[in-house]
Amino acid sequence: MDISFKNVNYTYQPNTPFEHRALTNLSFDIPSGSFVAVVGHTGSGKSTLIQHLNGLLRPTEGEVRIGDFKLTANGKPKGIKNLRKHVGVVFQYPEHQLFDETIKKDISFGPSNFGVSDHEIEKRIPKVMEAVQLSTDMLERSPFDLSGGQMRRVAIAGVLAMDPSVLVLDEPTAGLDPKGQKQMMDMFYQLHHEKKLTTILVTHSMEDALRYADHVIIMDHGTKYMEGVPSEVFTQKEKLQAVQLDLPEIIQFLRKIEEKFDISLPYKGQTIPELAAELTLLMRVGDEHG
Ligand SMILES: Nc1ncnc2c1ncn2[C@@H]1O[C@H](COP(=O)(O)OP(=O)(O)OP(=O)(O)O)[C@@H](O)[C@H]1O
Ligand SMILES: [Mg+2]
Repeated sequence: MDISFKNVNYTYQPNTPFEHRALTNLSFDIPSGSFVAVVGHTGSGKSTLIQHLNGLLRPTEGEVRIGDFKLTANGKPKGIKNLRKHVGVVFQYPEHQLFDETIKKDISFGPSNFGVSDHEIEKRIPKVMEAVQLSTDMLERSPFDLSGGQMRRVAIAGVLAMDPSVLVLDEPTAGLDPKGQKQMMDMFYQLHHEKKLTTILVTHSMEDALRYADHVIIMDHGTKYMEGVPSEVFTQKEKLQAVQLDLPEIIQFLRKIEEKFDISLPYKGQTIPELAAELTLLMRVGDEHG
């Protein structure tokens, strides 16, 4: 589903002493099937933005479109339940939302609530368990006996069991160890790649935004500060530093090498081993000519 924001403003608690404008004149387009990273300093409006994607919030002004659904300030939108069926949102610390006696019941809750037949749910469960890399042997266990990382996988399986066409992830790897973080991000990337799932990832990790996303939106004080292809956005050091964002480590590293050896070493999506090979080659050439 194509997504677009047109001149969206959002104000929390309007006309009260707590009134707060969290989004200002925000416009962007997300074509169906893309992987978009939303980054920005804390309080820049990222979570407010994504809560518009399943109609949890509606714009105070402007228009949000998700496929055929239109959200505006005026009137309750039609078909909000249908929208939520198509847009799966994994909130921060989703494991806090687990509640049922067994993993199976917890995963079934969402789809069942949206009218998916038991027969269809039975078919989906092994698929989503596989997607989140959990064994189906665990289905009858209590979700509360699991490790934090496993609980999160169960919660994510529950969202996937709805078979959404858009997957929204608000800092899905927060609090996991580095290995768990990488596994989980690889899992989301694979889902995106295999199912052409439109994926919107809120993250504080510039590395993840660079590695997984094909488009990045940088938020600052509720406005869109920059957007574009990650490899182009993430090379603009001064602009990023102006909003307290760092360059991804690999780009910082390339910059240092470029300065030190006075060579040009553009970022082309190299992994660390590829970069090591590239550097070895450069040094050999250097030796032969030096
Ligand atoms: N319910 C609320 N009432 C009033 N203001 C709010 C409310 N929720 C958020 N805000 C304010 O809106 C602004 C944007 O908040 P938001 O949660 O969207 O930021 P964020 O970019 O997701 O931050 P973080 O990286 O810390 O998660 C912040 O200034 C925040 O204090
Ligand atoms: Mg947030």
